[in-house]
Amino acid sequence: MPDPRTVTIAVDGRTRTGLAEPRLLLSDFLRHELGLTGVHVGCEQGGCGACTVKLDGRPALSCLTLAVQADGARIDTVEGLARDGELHPIQRAFQEQHGLQCGFCTPGMLLAAQMLLEETPDPSAAEIREHLSGNVCRCTGYTGIVAAVREAARLLRQETS
Ligand code: FES
Ligand code: FES
Repeated sequence: MPDPRTVTIAVDGRTRTGLAEPRLLLSDFLRHELGLTGVHVGCEQGGCGACTVKLDGRPALSCLTLAVQADGARIDTVEGLARDGELHPIQRAFQEQHGLQCGFCTPGMLLAAQMLLEETPDPSAAEIREHLSGNVCRCTGYTGIVAAVREAARLLRQETS
């Protein structure tokens, strides 16, 4: 068995260290080594988007990234969205607009939506659908998700005005 090496990542604002064999996926490292089970894993083939995280501010599929590739990086997961027991506006919007049912796709959806809204504060429905096209939801039919992202955009613009 290859020697595990130490991987250090700034996850959700905290420096975390764990051991990873060179072939260990980032998704497995986050879930099993660091206990961040809010990161969901669906297809493990890059097709569903459930495992989406922010890697140095950019979207990354953690099932297609090796843990060792993230050594020294900053990673944001769904677990860092809420602050001091308060849901993030994007989480509130998903809750209010029925943007989730089983919740399996939701961690990836929330992160993908957050990255869209950072670049496009007032996206159209078409832009939202296009941006989230790599995130598969088997429950909602997407209508609630699009409504939730539009509501989240409104809440975030309100916060910054
Ligand atoms: S679990 Fe990573 S894209 Fe499906
Ligand atoms: S809410 Fe069930 S997969 Fe999206």
